[in-house]
Amino acid sequence: MAEPGYTVLTRKYRPAKFADMVGQPHVVKALSNAITTNRVAQAFLFTGSRGTGKTSTARILACALNCSERKPDGFEPCGKCASCRDIARSEDLDVVEMDAASNSRVDDVRERLESVDTRPARGRYRIFIIDEVHMLSTSAFNALLKTIEEPPPHVKFILATTNPEKIPETILSRCQRYDFRRVTLGEIVEWLEGICKNEKLKPGDGVLRAVAEMAEGGMRDALGRLDQLVAFSGERPGLEEAERVFGLVSRGKLLDLLQALAKGDARAGVLFAEEVFDSGKDVAEVLASLVGLARTLLLVAAGGGDDRGIDVPASELPALKEAAKAYGIHGLVYLAELLTDCRQRVRRAAFPRVLVETTLVKLSMVGRLESLEVLLSRLDEAADAPVSKTRNESQSANAEISHQEPNPAQNAPASDKQNRALSEREKSALDALKRQFGVS
Ligand SMILES: Nc1ncnc2c1ncn2[C@@H]1O[C@H](COP(=O)(O)OP(=O)(O)OP(=O)(O)O)[C@@H](O)[C@H]1O
Ligand SMILES: [Mg+2]
Ligand SMILES: [Zn+2]
Repeated sequence: MAEPGYTVLTRKYRPAKFADMVGQPHVVKALSNAITTNRVAQAFLFTGSRGTGKTSTARILACALNCSERKPDGFEPCGKCASCRDIARSEDLDVVEMDAASNSRVDDVRERLESVDTRPARGRYRIFIIDEVHMLSTSAFNALLKTIEEPPPHVKFILATTNPEKIPETILSRCQRYDFRRVTLGEIVEWLEGICKNEKLKPGDGVLRAVAEMAEGGMRDALGRLDQLVAFSGERPGLEEAERVFGLVSRGKLLDLLQALAKGDARAGVLFAEEVFDSGKDVAEVLASLVGLARTLLLVAAGGGDDRGIDVPASELPALKEAAKAYGIHGLVYLAELLTDCRQRVRRAAFPRVLVETTLVKLSMVGRLESLEVLLSRLDEAADAPVSKTRNESQSANAEISHQEPNPAQNAPASDKQNRALSEREKSALDALKRQFGVS
């Protein structure tokens, strides 16, 4: 596949104008308004998770600001003038791009900012794009702050980061901030479909969806995986090939597993773990898919019949509804928590297989768990029950502890143990528990 001259899809499909940006309408709208009304801030901060379009948007904004062909009432760069072409190749004299990850020292910043007072060579503005800006050292941030506080009118700053919490307040307060969101599953699938059409690729049913699911909202990741899949299986990759390349388990199988676990089938969990480990699947990816499925089940249960916002093929809905019902909302919360925790720990676990097995077996017991409300109301009933015989407290406590194996020395009748009243201490502990969980 990778013939000479082959460009990886992520390079080939870098958005060149605002209209190409997928899934960030709030950002596009605000920036295009600012450009057409000529109210462009002096400093921007683009934040959001990996591969959602921060660097691309920084370049599009730079192009739009310096494009020589842009109409006064338009906001899209022409993409053809010398400025637009050079900025897209990161070779423009007026646009200084700096990767703070590899240039984090104060001298790096000073060197880049030296030209801040020079008039732009060709365009209207000198634009400084600082990527991964959270990586700057404290003194580098201070050097930057001085310029950002009062930049010359021909200067614009665009800072981008995946970690806004690491940026000093002094810098944050001087920037207009835009949060790039994770792109939805539906939007990614649609975008990939367009690219496949353009590239004359014919993925089988469900392939793009599986690829999009793995990307978790990151466009670069989605496209990178499509590239990898095509490199492996050519222009018509099928779902089975995708599952093999990425070490995935099909959604149908995952749903079968969750349904079996909901019925208390612990063996199904152990067999599933065996299959995943013995076939060399990527266990973290498999757990990620299970977490995704658990989230969908939660949405189905919380929706109470309203299916809007549930991003699954209509043919899967009946099975999902059945599984959601089998777990109940409490069970689903527990399911999602246990799976998320297992996914987080599995890469570092000394015995990942045991971790996965115990998690799945625990999940098979969900059906037998009682909700907190039921447990507390049962305790309440016990508290209100009449005392059949007065006994001293230490005796009753002993009886309670050893109630599975009655101690003949105590000789307490069974009914006595069940009906005894709660002590004052037990009552107050029960009240505290109820307060803590907001149950009255
Ligand atoms: N919103 C988007 N619309 C269309 N394509 C996108 C979008 N976001 C990312 N991409 C694709 O991913 C590639 C990388 O995007 P970009 O470099 O802009 O992401 P980023 O947010 O800067 O990522 P990072 O946090 O890793 O720096 C682009 O070339 C493009 O193919
Ligand atoms: Mg970037
Ligand atoms: Zn142009």
